[in-house]
Amino acid sequence: MEITVVGTGYVGMVAACCLARSGHTVTAVDKDQEKLEQLRQNVLPIYEKDLDYIFWEALRDNRLSFTHDLASSLEQAEIVIVAVGTPAKTDGRIDLSQVYEVASDLAILAKKPLKVVMKSTVPPGFGQSVCERVFSRSKFKIDYVSNPEFLREGKAVQDWYFPDRIVIGCNDQEVSKTVANLYHDLAAPIVFMDVTSAEMVKYASNAFLATKISFINEIANLCERLGTDIDIIAETIGMDKRIGPQFLKAGLGYGGSCFPKDTRGLDYISTSYGHCFSLLKAVIEVNSRQRVLATRKILQALPADNKKVAVLGLAFKPGTNDVREAPALDIIDQLLGEGVEVTACDPIAIENAQKKLPSAVVFNQNPYATCRDCSAVLLATEWEEYVALDWNQIKGVMKPPFFLMDGRNALDPIAIKQAGFRYLGIGRSRNQLVPEY
Ligand code: UDX
Repeated sequence: MEITVVGTGYVGMVAACCLARSGHTVTAVDKDQEKLEQLRQNVLPIYEKDLDYIFWEALRDNRLSFTHDLASSLEQAEIVIVAVGTPAKTDGRIDLSQVYEVASDLAILAKKPLKVVMKSTVPPGFGQSVCERVFSRSKFKIDYVSNPEFLREGKAVQDWYFPDRIVIGCNDQEVSKTVANLYHDLAAPIVFMDVTSAEMVKYASNAFLATKISFINEIANLCERLGTDIDIIAETIGMDKRIGPQFLKAGLGYGGSCFPKDTRGLDYISTSYGHCFSLLKAVIEVNSRQRVLATRKILQALPADNKKVAVLGLAFKPGTNDVREAPALDIIDQLLGEGVEVTACDPIAIENAQKKLPSAVVFNQNPYATCRDCSAVLLATEWEEYVALDWNQIKGVMKPPFFLMDGRNALDPIAIKQAGFRYLGIGRSRNQLVPEY
């Protein structure tokens, strides 16, 4: 099939490359000339594990090309996949300007009937509204399909090939079948439903996963008071098949491009439909508080004469250079506000973090050099290389009280204490000093 993918971000690039690999001819469209130039020089503008090989293979086989010209790409395309950004506004509303712009361009530029597949996360009801308000004005029939993505950054290629389910939301059976056929080579259940339900599935999935994280963080916070240990508790409750073991890792809370945006977005949507989604509000609040609690623990541990903190990890999770809504950035801001000197490192996210953090932060690629002369260190992202650091060596370059805040419960508290650190995790009370709030 001839496919146009609009948007060359994480979702657009993964979809374009993987569909090209499945034998489709894909044109990826983006307005950003700089990005297009990079792509034309065979350089991926994003870091995504295992994507580079698929990208180069698609280019070699002439199945993937790039353009800024949506109109020309539509001459051949039977399916247009929309994967542009829907960022959050400061009040939690979802900025739909990019999807609306693409939709109106498609309505004007269509030269034949089109099937529009929406992969951007849009609020429930958007699809129906865009069909009534925009696509109905096109000279040619435009069918609309909501096909939300569930790709994790850093594992997007794996998630593309081994999804738990594929969701197709469309009010026309034939169109649904054509779009389902895009995934003919994947052994995943395909669930067909109406457009608005598919849009809701995406928000509900992310809100539920975020709820699991905030829930376990609250249990961890309580564990600290009770002197019990979150690790064994999370592991044991996760053994109940109805609960499941995933997303029960206590820590600094969720970040990234999806959970913060989608939880706030769903809260806004609920309010605008007259429903107060109290549970979701609590999930969001717990997540912000988790960062403040970590900051307070660090501040309490710092000596008056050496307020220097090293932050290991800036990305919102390992395996990505994405720092959007990363807990590390918030905590650094809070520490700076309290007059703390901060040095920070990350294997691949320094460049992105530098754009968002004040110039007072000192960055260093080397974790040992980052910790030099600091009284406290925060492990904010559980990169494998940081978990495997020589903590004796780290302690050797630090100053008392050698405080280590394990923001991801990723380290072995006993080994860390043996290395001479004062260790604090999140809810790991048996092995740590319980702080007073
Ligand atoms: C998420 C969803 O998983 C994906 O399906 C959706 O389409 C996009 O959003 P992503 O943002 O890439 O993917 O990251 P994910 O791996 O889900 O983690 C999200 C955040 O939750 C990270 O900050 C992570 O550190 C945190 N997290 C995750 C926890 O704090 N505890 C956990 O147990 C799991």
